[in-house]
Amino acid sequence: MPVLRSRLDPRSDTYRANRTAQLAALAALHEQLDLARAGGGERYVERHRARGRLTARQRIELLLDRDAPFLELSSLAAWGTEFTVGAGMVTGIGPVSGVECVLIANDPTVRGGSVNPYSLRKNLRALEIARRNRLPVVNLVESGGADLPTQAELFVPGGRVFHDLTELSALGIPTVALVFGNSTAGGAYIPGLCDHAVLVAGRAKVFLGGPPLVRMATGEEADDEELGGAAMHARVSGLADHYAADEYDCLRIGRRIVADLNWRKHGPGPSRPPDEPLYDVDEVLGLVPTDLRVPFDPREVLARVVDGSRFDEYKSEYGAALVTGWASVHGFPVGVLANARGVLFGEESRKAAEFIQLANRSHTPLLFLQNTTGYMVGTAYEQGGIVKDGAKMINAVTNSTVPHLTLNIGASFGAGNYGMSGRAFDPRLLFAWPTAKLAVMGAAQLAGVLSIVGRQAATARGIAFDEDVDELRRGAIEAQIERESHAFFVTARLYDDGVIDPRDTRTVLGIALSAAHSAPVAGTTGYGVFRM
Ligand code: COA
Repeated sequence: MPVLRSRLDPRSDTYRANRTAQLAALAALHEQLDLARAGGGERYVERHRARGRLTARQRIELLLDRDAPFLELSSLAAWGTEFTVGAGMVTGIGPVSGVECVLIANDPTVRGGSVNPYSLRKNLRALEIARRNRLPVVNLVESGGADLPTQAELFVPGGRVFHDLTELSALGIPTVALVFGNSTAGGAYIPGLCDHAVLVAGRAKVFLGGPPLVRMATGEEADDEELGGAAMHARVSGLADHYAADEYDCLRIGRRIVADLNWRKHGPGPSRPPDEPLYDVDEVLGLVPTDLRVPFDPREVLARVVDGSRFDEYKSEYGAALVTGWASVHGFPVGVLANARGVLFGEESRKAAEFIQLANRSHTPLLFLQNTTGYMVGTAYEQGGIVKDGAKMINAVTNSTVPHLTLNIGASFGAGNYGMSGRAFDPRLLFAWPTAKLAVMGAAQLAGVLSIVGRQAATARGIAFDEDVDELRRGAIEAQIERESHAFFVTARLYDDGVIDPRDTRTVLGIALSAAHSAPVAGTTGYGVFRM
């Protein structure tokens, strides 16, 4: 297979400037990740430890295989909102007893581990990832149930957690609940809805209503151990399948349950040599221009990410603004679609639609590297049928059934986001680099469009157009869109599965591909009607 040759000059001023900007963005990312890791803050973490309890992250670490990688998801959920960064929940993919599982852990140091609108979305996304990729789920439970002040936003959509857990069970995807502490109200159903439940002696408290609620409802003076303690559930109600002596025992039993699943992946294993790329991955930091309007060659990214820097390009001379071709990552074959020049023209769209069909014929997963400002506008392109061509690409992306992985490395604007398998197109996993931006269009363009519309409206009404007010409004809108396009803003709302260090791209894609191959990998032969 042909090998990519890099033309990057790490001594150039551009490279240095790009790298400096990327490192600054990474420093900001690490600052926020530290906040997420700090959970509810020192006071609550100390109180939790003083009670002899492990933190959510310690529980995860002990549950995972020793020194195993853990792909944390949605780490910055709720960033910039009234809720703690990370949303009081830790989710991710990692191996337990050699089986890749989705782990979902409440962080009891954040408002008693209660579930807020962002942790709910994080929980639901983790369950969706489990369903689509056929990954067993382990819930590490200690939660005060719904975050009561935000119940109006939670109650109705929260039922979906109940729905999804039971649906997973019917799909033959195992679900496990390890209950370390309080599991009140909605939380109480988690061990009830999972295939397997382990409760920690003296710690796990599982009840629909705690003693105060019972007193309110029926007047009964109930003792919390009798009402929902682990011993009661192990000996009387039968909700607990296993009665764990302590947290460590609970984690040990959890590992044993997963080992006893006799789990088999249904997708093929890696089939290509997984050799490292020829170029240093660290150099990806110098690739992304500080001005996103300046295009960059995604082959330079591929040269630092794919096995042996091997890339068999497809239609290299045609539709050159979109690079397509075959490669492998950690031995898993992938078809790559990568924007090379921002805009998608008709040729690019048709090339993409054709390439996606080929990948489906060969049952090859697809990797989308997004750096697009959308489909080309203008009279010549409209007359040339850009709407039909974009629709062909979107049709192919929608109906493709091989796993899609999407990474926003630059910009993801307009319908280009859809054509390049954005969030609404159900990629198995979707990540962004810290300098990446996502919006309906660039901030300056959007502010400019509104200004033109305002000017036209004034003319139509025969009133004077106030240039000064327009200038101020334009600046304010530009600042707003700039803020809303930021990678943290996007990931906070679960529009992706996380912001990653560009240097981790190969590792993240490797874990994601391995996880995706837990489900059968099969292309489709059926699409909708292609507009010709
Ligand atoms: N919604 C919103 N905030 C909650 C909450 C909930 N369900 N549960 C706890 N919190 C808040 C507390 O108000 C407290 O806030 P503060 O530190 O600002 O005072 C913080 O989380 C820690 O709670 P605390 O009670 O001190 O922690 P704890 O570890 O001793 O006990 C619980 C944790 C979950 C056992 C206990 O808080 C509790 O019983 N909460 C109510 C559970 C409930 O009835 N839920 C019904 C859901 S439908």
